[in-house]
Amino acid sequence: MAQNKSEFIWFNGELVPWDQATVHVTTHALHYGSSVFEGIRAYEVNGAAAIFRLGPHVDRLFNSCKIYRMDIGYSKKAIGQAIIETVKVNKLKGCYIRPLVFRGTGAIGVNPLPCSVETVIFAFEWAHYLGAEAIEQGADVGVSSWRRMAPDTFPSMAKVGGQYVNSQLMKMEALSHNYVEAIALNYEGFVSEGSGENIFLVRDGVIYTPPLGASILEGITRHSMITLAADLGYTVREAMIPREFLYLADEMFFTGTAAEVTPIRSVDGITIGSGKRGPITERLQSEFFGILAGEVQDRHGWLTPVA
Ligand SMILES: Cc1ncc(COP(=O)(O)O)c(C=O)c1O
Repeated sequence: MAQNKSEFIWFNGELVPWDQATVHVTTHALHYGSSVFEGIRAYEVNGAAAIFRLGPHVDRLFNSCKIYRMDIGYSKKAIGQAIIETVKVNKLKGCYIRPLVFRGTGAIGVNPLPCSVETVIFAFEWAHYLGAEAIEQGADVGVSSWRRMAPDTFPSMAKVGGQYVNSQLMKMEALSHNYVEAIALNYEGFVSEGSGENIFLVRDGVIYTPPLGASILEGITRHSMITLAADLGYTVREAMIPREFLYLADEMFFTGTAAEVTPIRSVDGITIGSGKRGPITERLQSEFFGILAGEVQDRHGWLTPVA
C-alpha cells in the first residue's frame, strides 16, 4: 500500500514540505534503531478533527525519551501544540499522526550521546490497519515462532524504533502463513501482544489481558478499553495467559491506535468462539467508536479538538 502524503511535516519546529523532510545517511537512528515514536489518531467529530488521547501519547513519548536518555528539548505542551498544528496545517480530519524523536548525526559509534536529537511530526490519512472487513468479521491470526523480548533485554514500556525489528519478524512470518497478524509469547511462553497491538480475551463473561510484566507496550487503547469495560460493568483481569487459553476463549480482540479494536476469529487455524465477532467485543467497539464519532458522550475527556 502506497504511503499517503500530506503537505507539511513539522521538523524541529519548522514546517517543511513533505518531500523535503529528509535526513543524512549517517543518522544514528538509521544504523542502530535509536528513535522513539508515537502513533496517534485523530477522528472527524462534528465536521472537525479531534485528537484521541493526546496527553497520554505525549506523556508516553517523553517517557520513552527518558528511558533512552534523550533530551527532546521541547516541553510537553510545545509538542502537544506542534501535533495539533501539524493536523491543522495539513487540513486533515480523520488521520494518523506520527511524532518521532531520533538520534541524528554527530557520531557513527554505538554511543548515541554525541548525536543531535531531532524531532519530526507528520500526519496522513490512514484507514483501518487490519482491514475494514476485520473490524466486523474478525481477523485470522497465528502465534509467532518469534518471542517478545525478555524484560532485561529491551524495556517494553518504551516505544523505541529498534524494538520493531522484532515486530517485523513476527509480521512477515504471519503474512507468509496468510495470517493478517501475529501474537507473540513472552520469554516465559505466556501470551504477550501482537506486532503492534495489545490483546484481550473473553471467557465466561470475564475479560482478560496480559499485564505489563508480559513484555507488552502499555497501550493507550488498552487503557481506554479497560476503562470502557469497567464503565459498562465488565470484570477485567490482568493475568498471565497460557497459549492454550487463546484457543479456549469465547471472544478475542486486538487493541491499538492503528488497529483500533479488531476482533480475532481464529488463532493458528482454530476457531475462536463462534468464529464471529462476539457480543462483548461488539459492545466495547460500539462504545469506543461511538465516542470517536461524537455519538457517545466523551465522558473521560479523551478528544482534543484541533480547531
Ligand atoms: C508493540 C505494540 N503493542 C501495543 C500497541 C498498542 O498501543 P496503543 O494502543 O497505545 O497504540 C502498539 C501500538 O502503538 C504497539 O506497537
